[in-house]
Order: sequence, then structure tokens, then C-alpha cells
Amino acid sequence: MSSSRTLVPGSITVAVFLGGIFLLSCSSKNTKLDQYYVQGQALYEKNCSNCHQKNGKGLGLVYPPLADNNYFTDHLDDSFCEMKYGKKGSILVNGKEYNKAMPGVPSLTELEIAEIATYITNSWGRENGIVDIQRVKQALDKCSAP
Ligand code: HEC
Repeated sequence: MSSSRTLVPGSITVAVFLGGIFLLSCSSKNTKLDQYYVQGQALYEKNCSNCHQKNGKGLGLVYPPLADNNYFTDHLDDSFCEMKYGKKGSILVNGKEYNKAMPGVPSLTELEIAEIATYITNSWGRENGIVDIQRVKQALDKCSAP
């Protein structure tokens, strides 16, 4: 009997301890996501929203939307290169053709690109978590300045 009495408080302590670790790791992930999101939003509004608009819906047949379609999330790796080096040629987004050159922003760092992409993939109804800086690095290694 006495052993079961000591066992119960013991397992409660273990449960509380594990729960604490779980909460801590969750909250630190959220903090990083929040940080990327907030920085990404500022960078988006500075570098992208002139054309793609604050609401991500783009503008007519001139600037394609980044919200309301899966194009962005389906072409995530391409988007890193486009942000840095720009984009030319016709593309089909949401069934509409766009064909106007987008200027790149060569000064964007890998972290800044990850932050902008995190902002876009977690805005306008999306919740896709953090875009990892390593993924940006790998994609950028495969494309280069035109
Ligand atoms: C001067 C206007 C302009 C700015 C600024 C601009 N874009 Fe674009 N963007 C365009 C145009 C035009 C296209 C279509 C290019 C084409 O026709 O090939 C485009 C295409 C894209 C695409 C691929 C299509 C899509 O809908 O997913 C992505 C992704 C994108 N832009 C992201 C960005 C991001 C992120 C920024 C900020 C770092 C940015 N753009 C800044 C004009 C702009």
C-alpha cells in the first residue's frame, strides 16, 4: 500500500515535468514563428505590397495574387529565387495569364526571404508554419543572378 501512495505523487511530478517541457518547446516554436511573421510582414509591406497589395490579392491582370491560390505554396522554392533575382516570362496563376517582369530585390538575405515567405504562407487564411532558412539557402544555391 505504501508503495502505491508514493507512486502516485511520483507520476504526477513526472507528468507535470513532461507537460512543462512540452509547453516550453511549443511556446519557443511559436515565438520563432511570431518573430518571422512580424519581420516578414514589415519586409513584405516594404518590398512587395506596392504590386501584390497588402491583402495579397495582386492587381488586375498586371500583378498576380499571392493569396487566394496555391500557386505560391506549390512554387515555394521558385519564389525564393524570384524575390532575390526577379522574374520574367508568362505565368498562369489561378487560370489567368500574367506577363510582366518582376524586379528582384538582390539585397534580401536568406533570413529575410525566409521571413517574407513565412509571412505569406501564414497569412490570408493559411497556417503553414515556418519556412526554414536552410530551405531558402538550398533553393538559392540552385539559381543565380540573371
Ligand atoms: C514592381 C512590382 C512587383 C514587386 C515590387 C514585386 N512583385 Fe512579385 N510579381 C510581379 C509581377 C509582374 C509578377 C509576374 C511575373 C511574370 O509575369 O513572370 C510577379 C510574380 C510573383 C510571384 C510568382 C507568381 C505568384 O503569384 O505566386 C511571386 C511568388 C512573387 N511575385 C512574389 C513577390 C514577393 C515576395 C515580392 C517582394 C519581395 C514581390 N513579388 C515584389 C510584380 C512585383
